[in-house]
Amino acid sequence: MKGIATCEATANIAVIKYWGKRDDELILPKNSSLSFTMDEQLKTRTTVMFLQDLKEDEFWLNGKKMDLKEKEIAERMKQLDIIRKRAEINEKALIVSINCFPTAAGFASSAAGLAALAIATLKAADLNLSGSETSIFARIGSGSASRSVLGGFVEWRKGEKDDGSDSIAVQIAPASHWPELRNVIGIVDAGKKKISSRAGMKQTIATSFLYPARMQYIEKVIEEMKKAVIAKDFQKFGEITMRESSDMHAVMLDTWPPIMYLNNISREIIYAVHELNSIEGKIIAAYTFDAGPNVHIYTTAENVARVQKMLQEYRKCCKVLKVFKR
Ligand code: DP6
Repeated sequence: MKGIATCEATANIAVIKYWGKRDDELILPKNSSLSFTMDEQLKTRTTVMFLQDLKEDEFWLNGKKMDLKEKEIAERMKQLDIIRKRAEINEKALIVSINCFPTAAGFASSAAGLAALAIATLKAADLNLSGSETSIFARIGSGSASRSVLGGFVEWRKGEKDDGSDSIAVQIAPASHWPELRNVIGIVDAGKKKISSRAGMKQTIATSFLYPARMQYIEKVIEEMKKAVIAKDFQKFGEITMRESSDMHAVMLDTWPPIMYLNNISREIIYAVHELNSIEGKIIAAYTFDAGPNVHIYTTAENVARVQKMLQEYRKCCKVLKVFKR
């Protein structure tokens, strides 16, 4: 037996989105992305044990044994073999994972899950790597997982190299930099999405006319966003966040056949946020949507109650999140 480790990771919510790969195998993105890693309410705890007597790898998720031969699971667990090879471990692994997400929250837990798996496997294999080095292994499971390896405000740099060694996550600012920042989750639909992010982004690259234009300005938008966060300029931050979310959903809609993750309630919430901001005469709330209809509204502590009240008119609001320290 080589080792055993239990580690946790939490979900992250991107403000500059990752949508498109330049390498499907190594999960290398077309563009860099930025996110905040969220607090422990969206957490996965994973234990990895390398055991001599185990004949096959075993993976238990929320008390259910998963089929590691299933294509999607096998693809996402590739990091296990890569780490095992690097650490020269022959033993099979027993992996036990618990998602502490609000039940039926309708949020994909893959980023937290695959980040926790990378952190725990590396630790069990006795490989002491930095957060950025660890992000490479999380990325192989799922691109957005690379950002969940670190806390606070995180950039996943797209990198230039073919082997992906420079496609890493880097912390731009710790959680303590902007302690007033909050993310209010609004559950619009808790169901499973019709098309996975993985399949959807591939289809966008293959068919969207707008996508190449997005690639031309996105790195510049990233620089603007970093400046806004460093300056804690909520006006700039809010505008870039909302426009960037719409930009990603525009290329999704421009995909053929079109991909539509937002529904009528999501769209009503977009209008309601603009209405709230216009009553206030400044941006106090900024929505962002991933590959689904549920909304994440970034705001500051003093305005949480107003955002919650606004959301409750549409659906029950689920959680208020803070930025996670690591
Ligand atoms: C819309 O990380 O789930 O949430 O790398 O194929 O596993 P794979 O995709 P995934 O895509 C997330 C896309 C997004 C935007 C983002 O989080 O940046």
